[in-house]
Amino acid sequence: MSIEYDNEEFFKQYAEMPRSRDGLSAAGEWHQLKPLIPSLNGRAVLDLGCGYGWHCHYAAENGAKRVLGIDMSERMLAEAKSRTTDNSIIEYRLCGIEEYEYPESTWDFVISNLALHYIEDISSVFMNVYKTLRSDGVFLFNIEHPVFTAGVNEDWVYDKDGAPRFWPVDDYFMPGRRVTNFLGCSVVKYHHTLTQIISGLLNAGFTVDAVEEAEPPEEMMDIPGMKDELRRPMMLIVRAKK
Ligand SMILES: C[S@@+](CC[C@H](N)C(=O)[O-])C[C@H]1O[C@@H](n2cnc3c(N)ncnc32)[C@H](O)[C@@H]1O
Repeated sequence: MSIEYDNEEFFKQYAEMPRSRDGLSAAGEWHQLKPLIPSLNGRAVLDLGCGYGWHCHYAAENGAKRVLGIDMSERMLAEAKSRTTDNSIIEYRLCGIEEYEYPESTWDFVISNLALHYIEDISSVFMNVYKTLRSDGVFLFNIEHPVFTAGVNEDWVYDKDGAPRFWPVDDYFMPGRRVTNFLGCSVVKYHHTLTQIISGLLNAGFTVDAVEEAEPPEEMMDIPGMKDELRRPMMLIVRAKK
């Protein structure tokens, strides 16, 4: 399967993003995601769509005994490997989230940050994650918010001077494929309604114990364009327990 993250131009643009240059501290959701991460001491951690491996590193630095990051982009994994010195704890594997084998009762914590909106059938992923978690295991993910993914272009409607007028929410109850523009490239994503996300987790057997809509932190408000991020949700963070 082809993936935009392996496209040279897209990969170059992605490398310029603050979160790629500076890691978790530059990610607008981190101040809300981090407090939801359970104690990782001695735990086994799986990262779905690990990218550069920031969350894998966080897990290893916080006592995880084994970390597996999977991703289907060779370039992203090459970047992750080049930034990883402790190979005895972190393993990276070229593998799609849909293709991973999800061995039964193997992981204590599964995290997925900004990757599940690339998956068409998230209900199956939820069932697989439930299966692969040990009892009392935790699943924490951050997915593009349904209000963000519903419309076609993932973009504002602008006024004649180029200022964002409003965020269009359209075709909300028509889940599925969207071709959007991200970093100057055509990118395929999948829109899932809030009901699909939450019901998918409940049907898989999870108890949902935290839901947050990511808002940029106060200290990022001076970054140009950041105030507009308070006008509509972009990311949905959910924690679910087995
Ligand atoms: C926005 S990046 C996030 C990376 C990382 N989780 C982070 O927060 O820094 C999305 C990642 O998901 C990966 N990805 C997209 N679709 C995937 C799939 N079907 N299976 C595995 N990885 C996928 C991409 O290659 C990319 O590395």
